[in-house]
Amino acid sequence: MKSKTWILRQKNDQFVKKAKQIGYISRAAFKLEEIEKKFNLIKHSRNIFEFGSSPGGWTQVILNSNKNIKITSIDLLDLKIKHKNIQFFKENFLTFNFDILNEDYDLVLSDIAPNTTGHQSTDHLRISQLIYEIIDKLEILLKPKGSFICKIWKGEEEKEIIKKLKILFENIDYFKPQSSRKESSEIFIVARNFK
Ligand SMILES: C[S@@+](CC[C@H](N)C(=O)[O-])C[C@H]1O[C@@H](n2cnc3c(N)ncnc32)[C@H](O)[C@@H]1O
Repeated sequence: MKSKTWILRQKNDQFVKKAKQIGYISRAAFKLEEIEKKFNLIKHSRNIFEFGSSPGGWTQVILNSNKNIKITSIDLLDLKIKHKNIQFFKENFLTFNFDILNEDYDLVLSDIAPNTTGHQSTDHLRISQLIYEIIDKLEILLKPKGSFICKIWKGEEEKEIIKKLKILFENIDYFKPQSSRKESSEIFIVARNFK
């Protein structure tokens, strides 16, 4: 169940209101919009893989940015939009058989988030474990020169994550969107030019 604080915050949040007005399924959509405005990675992709896509705000942004895009996405929960260009798997990515995909991708996105405990360092460790698992999958998912965008919650594992990504990619950037809550420790890593 959502806490009272969460419900109050959602009610007063300008991005929640804006998302309702323009028909975005989640306020998370604005974060990807901002990332795209700066890095232009969706526009130049033909094939995208999305980890943690539900309810589907990011997927809406992808479809709006590029009409010809093909999206493959995975989440434990239902994706609330349907589109002919989306192939969605309602599964745990940790047990998913990636070999069945038989494709490679220009861009891999992760907005994956574990259930939170409210204990910052525990939550940080949990999301970091998921990111390590995703990084292990990049070899089979990404095309050479492809890109990877992921959300992390800042903390001590961050250095190790960046270290791993520096081995795999030529360019690494951090990005904190305006629409990301200031008090949130979340930050996005944009890794480009997969080696
Ligand atoms: C912040 S939400 C994603 C929001 C989405 N980007 C959007 O714009 O609507 C994080 C998602 O990660 C998913 N998730 C967490 N662990 C997962 C796992 N092991 N396998 C698949 N999905 C997972 C959750 O179910 C949740 O929907």
